[in-house]
Amino acid sequence: MDLEEVRNQARIKMKGFCGVYKECDGDPSRLCQGHSYGGLGIGGVGSGASFANNVKALKKYSLRMRIVDDNSEPETGFDFFGFRASMPVFGAPVTGVNSFGGDAVITEKDFCHATVMGCRDAGTIGFRGDTYTYDYSNPETCHCLAAFKSAGGTGVKIMKPREQEVILREVRRYEDLGILAFGIDIDGCGSVMMNKHGKPVFKKTKNELRELASSIKLPFIVKGIMTVEDAVACVESGARCVVISNHGGRVLDHTPGTAEVLPEIAAAVKGKAMIIADGGIRNGYDVLKMLALGADAVLIGRDIVRAAAGGGVTGVKLQMDMFRDTLSKAMMMTGCRSLGDINREILA
Ligand SMILES: Cc1cc2nc3c(=O)[nH]c(=O)nc-3n(C[C@H](O)[C@H](O)[C@H](O)COP(=O)(O)O)c2cc1C
Repeated sequence: MDLEEVRNQARIKMKGFCGVYKECDGDPSRLCQGHSYGGLGIGGVGSGASFANNVKALKKYSLRMRIVDDNSEPETGFDFFGFRASMPVFGAPVTGVNSFGGDAVITEKDFCHATVMGCRDAGTIGFRGDTYTYDYSNPETCHCLAAFKSAGGTGVKIMKPREQEVILREVRRYEDLGILAFGIDIDGCGSVMMNKHGKPVFKKTKNELRELASSIKLPFIVKGIMTVEDAVACVESGARCVVISNHGGRVLDHTPGTAEVLPEIAAAVKGKAMIIADGGIRNGYDVLKMLALGADAVLIGRDIVRAAAGGGVTGVKLQMDMFRDTLSKAMMMTGCRSLGDINREILA
């Protein structure tokens, strides 16, 4: 099986809600923006502007070739809170594909397994999210637990900003499994699916974030940051990592692209917390742009969905291998021998 075959399989399985196009850009003409399936599906909320802006923002940059050099292989390895990953590229927390695609596309259980194990097989880390089908009073519904166990703890859990007591209680299960880090997607307060299914999600105050950061024994991550003010507040509250993200354009219409806001956020918090960015990253060239704009690492969303639907664990591994290969090529052609060599100078 190769990635082309995985994508062909995904095109068949995801018929009606994702065209598995060569370009996944949130354009209004795309199947996912058509709303013919009666919901958000895999697209962006509303006009899709936030989703499209992610892709447009990355496209504004080009790479400067620097090839008068020797032929050493670039080093892509990255330390994530004590785990040596093969690259600073991880599987994003994506959940609920079955709730609009149906179990025939992929069940949530298989999706968790494919993401976490496929990333692990590629030497990197699968993040898992949270949606309305996760009923924390019944751990059987939280399929990420079994996936993390199979992977020996190589994974990260991102919970929705539910009631504070629920987060504080449930985090213990993840601590016991010894996963690498735990966080909340604070922008989940704008989640269409949670609200539609009557699952309360909340904005979090600085004090509540401080309480989470100080009670949780794992490195604490806040995902869904789009402004300097929020990034500074999270870091001041004890977050060890902030994820610059507009949730793939799924929580608020008309936000800028993440690559647009990343440089100013990095200028404010770089070195004080790990900076992860996501949104519209489709290959290693996009990864390199995000790293040059100030990210320490990135997450991959929709491409993981297609890879898991089309090829399960193998599909995700092949997808992540593609990211490593193209990141290595991009670094080689821009004169970056290691991640530490990457900076704004490589961008045109
Ligand atoms: C179908 C779908 C479900 C998602 N579910 C979650 C989730 O449960 N938790 C979360 O933090 N982010 C969720 N996200 C957002 C992703 O983690 C990530 O931020 C986004 O997909 C990155 O953009 P990209 O898809 O263009 O790579 C979801 C995204 C999609 C497309």
